[in-house]
Amino acid sequence: MKKLLAVLALAACAGSASAADVVGNPKAAPNKIEMCIGCHGIPGYKASFPEVYQVPMIGGQSAKYIESALHAYKKGDRKHPSMRGIAASLSDQDIADVAAYYSQQNAQTRK
Ligand code: HEC
Repeated sequence: MKKLLAVLALAACAGSASAADVVGNPKAAPNKIEMCIGCHGIPGYKASFPEVYQVPMIGGQSAKYIESALHAYKKGDRKHPSMRGIAASLSDQDIADVAAYYSQQNAQTRK
């Protein structure tokens, strides 16, 4: 059992090390988030169909959380079909940029 835990801990470290190589650039995000806006309301915009989709707010969530959620959709760990399709079309760099952008939204609206 101890051995298994050690292996899992190592695997977790290796995973986060490779993810850290990609640095998100919020300035590169605006043309990548055009397709998100229709479903995810962002401050200043209104979600098109809040009553049709149960769409979570992503603006202001931590970049880490948004990134890991998108990777989970991409890998299939999260099952929502439209988000899976969208995440699959994003590169690791796209995901980092988009996550950096949305994580700054709270700070902007709170100013
Ligand atoms: C077709 C509508 C639609 C579009 C377009 C869309 N999303 Fe989503 N998104 C959803 C829905 C619905 C959920 C909730 C899915 C679930 O329950 O797993 C979701 C969930 C998420 C989550 C997880 C949020 C949480 O709190 O767990 C993230 C992150 C996310 N979307 C990011 C994006 C990004 C980035 C884009 C653009 C590249 C995008 N989405 C485009 C509908 C959409």
